[in-house]
Amino acid sequence: EMMKELLGLSSLEKELEQRLGVPKVIVVSGDSDENDWVKHELGQATSLELSSRLKPKDVVAVMGGTTLAAVARMMTADAKNREVVFVPARGGLGEKVENQANTISAEFASRAGAQYRLLHVPDQLSEEAYSSLILEPSVQEILTIIKSASVVIHGIGDAETMATRRNSKVPSLQKLIDNHAVGEAFGYYFDENGKSIYKQRTIGLQLDELDQDKYVISVAGGHSKAKAIAAYVKNRPSDVLVTDEGAARSLLDL
Ligand code: F6P
Repeated sequence: EMMKELLGLSSLEKELEQRLGVPKVIVVSGDSDENDWVKHELGQATSLELSSRLKPKDVVAVMGGTTLAAVARMMTADAKNREVVFVPARGGLGEKVENQANTISAEFASRAGAQYRLLHVPDQLSEEAYSSLILEPSVQEILTIIKSASVVIHGIGDAETMATRRNSKVPSLQKLIDNHAVGEAFGYYFDENGKSIYKQRTIGLQLDELDQDKYVISVAGGHSKAKAIAAYVKNRPSDVLVTDEGAARSLLDL
């Protein structure tokens, strides 16, 4: 804490809370676009925040991405986590295996000494496949667990970066550019006013299900994500935002 004061991070946190309307902002030093170790710092800060909130029977829904993978790696085992269940928040969104929500959720559980459940849903679901999959009893069972989550942890990405990384045909990069998409989270693309302009079809939590009962922890750093973070919190203000100095300073310059 004293270190934070010295580095001026505490005042950055206060300014961002006001500017973004997010009750709690945590800023770690550095810029994850420039140095890889900053993601570990984001991971550590988020893992501490999560661990301090976890209650014995919580269900925690997690998203994918490299930042969330870093958070999972920093979790530590605790006896009170034995009945906590980690689940992926949504089905496949076109990520590599190590960055998929399923993989990350299992990693969270094994590090934290908790349980996990998988959700097997392919990427790029057709309308027909979607309609029949959600009728499967095994899918319905896990969906019920996912929807009961009391804590949700997710990353935020730059819209163009995410569409390119997913090699996305639908929506096409051109469509996203035409609609001024700046950010992405949960498979939803947002414009700078926080309006959702496209949603990837997959099973799991939908954005409008992130009601006030769910404690939402957003984790995203790097100056290149400033616009994306600002857009996302206009749609559904996070309960906690964990970010880095690079993103924080760029956010205040927007
Ligand atoms: O694809 C899953 C996801 O959580 C996206 O919703 C988000 O934009 C992205 O990963 C963040 O990835 P990273 O942490 O690697 O920047």
